[in-house]
Amino acid sequence: MLLKYIVFLLVIFTLSNAQKDSKFSGKGKYGGRGRQKSSLQSSSSKNSSAFSNSKDRQLINKIINGSSGTKAQYPFIVQLFERSNSSTPFAYSCTGSLISNQWVLTAAHCVTDKKRNFLSPPNFRVAAGNAQLVKGSDINSLYQVSSMGAFGYKANPSLDLALIKLKTTVPASVSTPARFYTGPVTPSLPVTVAGFGVTKFGTSIPSDVLLQTRVNISQSSNCSIFNNDWKSNTGPQVCQESYNGHDSCQGDSGGPLVTTVGGQNVIVGITNDGGNKDPRATNGCGYNVIAYYARLGYYASGISKVIGVPLSTLVAT
Ligand SMILES: *[C@@H]1O[C@H](CO)[C@@H](O)[C@H](O)[C@H]1NC(C)=O
Ligand SMILES: *[C@@H]1O[C@H](CO)[C@@H](O)[C@H](O)[C@H]1NC(C)=O
Ligand SMILES: *[C@@H]1O[C@H](CO)[C@@H](O)[C@H](O)[C@H]1NC(C)=O
Ligand SMILES: *[C@@H]1O[C@H](CO)[C@@H](O)[C@H](O)[C@H]1NC(C)=O
Ligand SMILES: *[C@@H]1O[C@H](CO)[C@@H](O)[C@H](O)[C@H]1NC(C)=O
Repeated sequence: MLLKYIVFLLVIFTLSNAQKDSKFSGKGKYGGRGRQKSSLQSSSSKNSSAFSNSKDRQLINKIINGSSGTKAQYPFIVQLFERSNSSTPFAYSCTGSLISNQWVLTAAHCVTDKKRNFLSPPNFRVAAGNAQLVKGSDINSLYQVSSMGAFGYKANPSLDLALIKLKTTVPASVSTPARFYTGPVTPSLPVTVAGFGVTKFGTSIPSDVLLQTRVNISQSSNCSIFNNDWKSNTGPQVCQESYNGHDSCQGDSGGPLVTTVGGQNVIVGITNDGGNKDPRATNGCGYNVIAYYARLGYYASGISKVIGVPLSTLVAT
């Protein structure tokens, strides 16, 4: 209990508002890690030796070999759209989850530049509760972002979780908030990852529909081999290896890793990054790969304080 308390105290939230962020707009934004638009060039130029240092780790995320997910299964699912500046169009960038009627959870690398500074909130739009990818002029009418924040990501890239506050509330008829799973994350916990990312490594077109695939959590000892910064599934990130082609990939970043409680999907983690375990391999997701997810059990108390929703409401029981 004491250890748990200390961990939560260390989770420091930094909120960034539109004013402060505006200076970062249009600068270095495509160097981010794992976003739909950003990861293709970095994934081809790096190999898994980068796992020795998480600052350089290649981040690649999408659903490989999945099946479609419905709004009934994922009533909290959110699509994130981003533009370089006010003269460029919005394009799909990441997946996210609604966790209260005004707050969205995603990966920190989805809303920051390569120096891990926040991008400008006016350059983001959010579509809530839609299992189909939003396209065209519909994007301009989506939810606007008032502020974004993270829990120490600037100093530590392993803390890859961000909160987005919307300018207006989302009615329950559009999307209902997700609950968190905060129990132990072990290889025996059945988990599924969902997102709108590419379905084949090396392509750049997001999926038209929400996709999901079962994955298996790995033993902690399996994962530390590939990432010196990584300790165990009890810390800020959980780890999953894929041997059979079921995986997340580009554009799935920020999307939920779920398990079921009482028949409902509840969020275990948020898709962060991953890569191939073989330095010579060209596929960054799908086969023989390793992927990391921000573990909500680590952040739940901190999130509760920031969004003003009691922990007992956030956590599924
Ligand atoms: C998808 O999964 C099925 C069943 O596991 C497998 O037979 C098939 O080869 C996989 N397809 C791809 C493209 O990986
Ligand atoms: C807007 O972004 C585009 C694409 O990155 C860039 O070419 C253009 O110069 C930018 N315009 C302004 C006004 O910053
Ligand atoms: C998960 O592990 C089980 C048992 O080892 C295996 O049968 C199954 O194919 C694995 N599923 C995936 C998606 O890797
Ligand atoms: C750990 O890795 C070995 C191969 O190195 C694999 O056989 C085993 O299934 C992995 N364990 C888990 C829980 O993923
Ligand atoms: C992996 O990358 C490192 C540094 O970029 C390079 O020195 C090494 O030769 C590469 N290994 C392979 C197998 O490509």
